[in-house]
Amino acid sequence: MAQMNSLNDGYNALVIGASGGIGSAIAQALEADPRCGGVHRLSRRDNPGFDLLDETSIADAAQRIGSQVGGLDLIFNATGALTIEGIGPEKALKAIDAEAMLRQFELNAVGPALLLKYFAPMLPRDRRGIFGSLSARVGSIGDNHLGGWISYRAAKAAQNQIVRTAAIEIARTRPLAVVAALHPGTVDTGLSVGYRGNHPAVPASESAANLLAVLDALPPERTGGFFAYDGSVIEW
Ligand SMILES: NC(=O)c1ccc[n+]([C@@H]2O[C@H](COP(=O)([O-])OP(=O)(O)OC[C@H]3O[C@@H](n4cnc5c(N)ncnc54)[C@H](OP(=O)(O)O)[C@@H]3O)[C@@H](O)[C@H]2O)c1
Repeated sequence: MAQMNSLNDGYNALVIGASGGIGSAIAQALEADPRCGGVHRLSRRDNPGFDLLDETSIADAAQRIGSQVGGLDLIFNATGALTIEGIGPEKALKAIDAEAMLRQFELNAVGPALLLKYFAPMLPRDRRGIFGSLSARVGSIGDNHLGGWISYRAAKAAQNQIVRTAAIEIARTRPLAVVAALHPGTVDTGLSVGYRGNHPAVPASESAANLLAVLDALPPERTGGFFAYDGSVIEW
């Protein structure tokens, strides 16, 4: 069972994208942690009006949750998409579509930036707090040996830069905070169906337990990093 030993007893958690494969497994794991004081689930599916493409809806959700809990010790962003409005990842340059590329950036890069803008201020100033955001290994520029998936890769690379930059700013007022970009592995969810190839996929519950263990073990000195589900550092 996942147990967040590094957070205060009774810690408050928020899972954004809690309707998704990995997000729901993260929320379930936290709800099963006896040290957890409460898990707030936020999603487009279950909170009508909430949409990462609508900044006002994010601000409204943050205000509502902030007025209910005061502060959040753990914020986990599990939103994102590989296929948007029926358009999947490109295999080659000739398949680039400007509108589809912008939608990738809107959801996988601007979306997490807005979540950091509105939710990171709820992290504690005087004790440990964690903001984990689901990126993807394919967002690594240095690790790109296969090509393809240009828009999704680029949007996740942008998210990584946003997480890194946010971590530096957040550390000025919250020196004990950990802000991290995460690769969950190849996980058996709706997102990866049809794209896994020969890659074995792990159940979302296994990925969630791994990701929470990675976040639990990260000291504040390692804030702003990009980590895989096994705790290894992924090159930018
Ligand atoms: N699965 C994998 O193998 C894998 C590998 C690498 C990285 N990742 C990353 O992990 C994250 C979660 O993936 P998953 O496999 O759990 O996918 P998933 O099951 O499809 O879940 C995606 C989540 O994102 C939410 N979402 C999508 N568009 C949204 C929008 N416009 N506004 C608000 N929420 C929105 C969905 O909400 P609704 O329920 O409302 O649609 C859902 O909660 C993604 O960022 C993905 O890139 C996954």
